[in-house]
Amino acid sequence: MKVVLLNSTYEISKAVSSIIIEQITQKPDSVLGFATGSSPVETYKRIIEAYENGEVSLKDITTFNLDEYCGLPHENENSYYYFMKDNLFGKTDVDYNKVHFLSGTTGDIDKECQVYRDDIEKAGGIDIQLLGVGTNGHIGFNEPSESFTDGPFKVKLAESTIKANSRFFEDGQVPEYALTMGIGDIMKAKKILLIATGASKTHAVKQMIEGEVTPHCPASILQNHPDATIFIDNESAALLDKKNF
Ligand code: GLP
Repeated sequence: MKVVLLNSTYEISKAVSSIIIEQITQKPDSVLGFATGSSPVETYKRIIEAYENGEVSLKDITTFNLDEYCGLPHENENSYYYFMKDNLFGKTDVDYNKVHFLSGTTGDIDKECQVYRDDIEKAGGIDIQLLGVGTNGHIGFNEPSESFTDGPFKVKLAESTIKANSRFFEDGQVPEYALTMGIGDIMKAKKILLIATGASKTHAVKQMIEGEVTPHCPASILQNHPDATIFIDNESAALLDKKNF
């Protein structure tokens, strides 16, 4: 696991977006795993700027998003599909035929999860998986538990996650369940970039980087990935013993 400590969210967004843009430049039909939440928003802005400046085209990429709330259709403003449309896809030339999402409204969850896994494999696997981390160490919606998950599945969200994510919901009504890629899916990505900034992430960052690898902090598994880079700022790094990376 590589750790990069930068001074601001802007610097992190420049660094992370450059890696993604370089990947697309080298391989226009790259397969990218995207994340939602506030952590990747600035990075998406930098990618949009690069697109607007004619530096990159997203028309040939294939995308897989990490997760989706159960019960929220694409048109719902709180769905992660809507988030991606609003924060990246709708502002670039992404081809929606190549956009993949777990459906929060499917009637057949087992099939939905199996098809998603098969689709990732058929696409040749994920070249870069972008991640944030929950305050409790979750990645995607893989909440702390007794064992690491494998493929996509339906999860009951932790109380702390519902509380943390309620800031995005005007009525505060966060769905209790979601569909998410499993830890096995995330670990298969060829390269992983995780962004963790701000004071609310200090404990998750400490455990993820310096703690033991345990499903009680799902992000700690990234210590075992051959090409995972964690981007942190001074605030989220506050509890780390080691500060020079
Ligand atoms: C959500 C998402 C995660 C995200 C995490 C952190 O629960 N499912 O993919 O990484 O929250 O969110 P934020 O970046 O807003 O802190």
